Amino acid sequence: MVIDARGSASSGPIHGQAADALHDARHHGARIDTCPVALLETIGGTPLADVSLLLDHRRTAPGVRLLAKLEGFNPTGSVKDRIALAMVTDARDRGVLTPGRTILEPTSGNTGISLAFVGRLLGHPVRAVLPDNATPERVQAMRTYGAHVVFSDGDLGSNGAVALAKELAAKDPSLYMPMQYENPANPLAHYETTAVELLEQVEDRRIHAFVAGLGTGGTLMGVGRRLLEHDQRTQVVAAEPKPGDAIMGLRSLEAGYVPPILDTSMLTRRIYVTNRHSVLGTRSLAGVGVFSGVSAGAAVQVARLIATEAPRDSCVVFLCADSGWKYLSADLFGRDIDDLEEHMDAGHWW
Ligand SMILES: Cc1ncc(COP(=O)(O)O)c(C=O)c1O
Repeated sequence: MVIDARGSASSGPIHGQAADALHDARHHGARIDTCPVALLETIGGTPLADVSLLLDHRRTAPGVRLLAKLEGFNPTGSVKDRIALAMVTDARDRGVLTPGRTILEPTSGNTGISLAFVGRLLGHPVRAVLPDNATPERVQAMRTYGAHVVFSDGDLGSNGAVALAKELAAKDPSLYMPMQYENPANPLAHYETTAVELLEQVEDRRIHAFVAGLGTGGTLMGVGRRLLEHDQRTQVVAAEPKPGDAIMGLRSLEAGYVPPILDTSMLTRRIYVTNRHSVLGTRSLAGVGVFSGVSAGAAVQVARLIATEAPRDSCVVFLCADSGWKYLSADLFGRDIDDLEEHMDAGHWW
């Protein structure tokens, strides 16, 4: 594969210094497939799968399609590769993330894994603050890329990780915190890449609604803004955990923290989903060959509901934020659903 980092700088995933590093490597005769930075080029460009088999065609208008954006195809297996690259390259370009400076970030897992990957390729050690009841695969993946994992109290969910990371950053100014909940490069990455890909992939089919799980809100804000610029009729719909239910990667705004990058006025609707319903959604996706995490299960359930209101020949697009590998230890796909629900409600995994 021939990659033109310069040529792709405005539309591809690599910008600024990373693009320069890639260009220099090529200029000095390095084979591109032996230049580690080229791995960053594998971020984005994910498939859009037609999963209309999951629709109840008695309840949908003729020609309505259900489409899944499969972010598990990113190199570390989640949508967060996009924002990790965007936040790191932006901070390097602004000169606040100097060469070799350590990155510290609160994460429910995926962003930590993505930052560990990007940090390793661009020469930044990474410290990730993670709730201590996250699945072990997350910790292992971060450590595989060389990140140092700091645990926060799992009972406090992602808010606990945010509070601890802020405390650590205040004590040690040598650390740089991208802070995905506040960083405009997060929604911008989706505005510039995810949404652009989607518009190309649906061709001229009208997007009735875009559905994604609500975590930082970066996906909904960035994709939503671009899609609304394209067609003001498009609904931007958040799948949100029912207050009290903890769906991995997602947050309920009722929990008290509203991410600064989230502008709720851009959301057409927020729809609550339970743990149980999300797991059932994840299993139904597996039934049509899509191996995904639980937040995708929440999103598909909301997307199916919205599809019953979609006009003929339009589509409802939802985001599968990650693949299912990190959830295998929770026996998400095989365990008795009542038993699993009890386990999740007790906060054993998050
Ligand atoms: C698995 C998973 N799904 C969905 C999301 C939510 O995405 P966003 O932060 O863009 O709202 C996250 C974010 O951490 C996630 O890890």
